[in-house]
This record gives sequence, C-alpha cells and structure tokens, in this order.
Amino acid sequence: MFKYDRFLNEDKTVKKEFYKDGTRLEYYTMPWGAGKNICIGKEFAVTAIKQFLFLLLTHFDLELCNPDAKIPPVNPSRFGFGMVHPDGDLRVRFRLKRTQHEM
Ligand code: HEM
Repeated sequence: MFKYDRFLNEDKTVKKEFYKDGTRLEYYTMPWGAGKNICIGKEFAVTAIKQFLFLLLTHFDLELCNPDAKIPPVNPSRFGFGMVHPDGDLRVRFRLKRTQHEM
C-alpha cells in the first residue's frame, strides 16, 4: 500500500522520528535510500537531471536576482550523503535565449 503521508505526524506536521526494529534512525532521509530498498531508478533519474541542466544552461540566459547575493552555506551534518544541499535559496532570473534567426 502506498502511504502518501508517511513523512507526516498524525497532526500533519513534519515527522522527524523514524524507527526500524525498535531503534530510532539517526538518518531517516537519504537522497536515494540505502540497503535493500535503495532506489533502482537512481541512474535513470541522475541522467534525466543532467539532461535538464544541459538544456537549461544551453537554452536560457541566467542571472542572480540580487547581484550581491552570496551562495548559502551547506549543512555539514549531512556530509557523506552525496551532494550536500544548501541551507537556503539563491534566487535566479532566467529567460529563453533568442535563436540566431530571431536576431
Ligand atoms: C530524483 C528522482 C528520484 C529520487 C530522489 C528517488 C528516491 C528514492 C528513495 C529515497 C527510495 C528509497 C525509499 C525507501 O527507502 O523507502 C527510492 C526507492 C525506489 N525508487 Fe526512486 N527515486 C527517484 C527516481 C526514481 C525513478 C525514475 C524510478 C524508476 C524508473 C525509481 C524507482 C524506485 C523504486 C522501484 C524504489 C523501491 C526500491 C525497493 O524498495 O526495492 N525511482 N527512490
């Protein structure tokens, strides 16, 4: 059965305590899972993400909304789980590039 609300508490707040065989899990969210339930679509998904990035960078002009904005710091407690994600956002403006024949 698909448990769509498995990451929520009864009162619908974000769940932060997970247990396996009675032991509390310290790292309950991992990018692709681990062990026998590890994501089998990982390679496919990573390829799709790379294709998306390639298309974004080749078809769009990008600029920072605030030119003085700094890259947000990373959360070091998640070192070892693949790419560490930033603790915050960096807002970017994007516009479709004009093709040669439109200029
Ligand atoms: C960005 C994309 C994706 C992310 C972040 C992701 C993440 C995950 C995670 C965290 C799990 C483990 C869940 C658990 O431990 O309960 C999982 C399992 C799984 N994923 Fe993905 N996934 C992605 C894309 C895909 C794709 C594209 C497919 C199929 C084409 C796929 C198929 C599966 C399957 C079948 C499992 C269950 C494996 C098992 O329990 O034996 N996933 N995924």
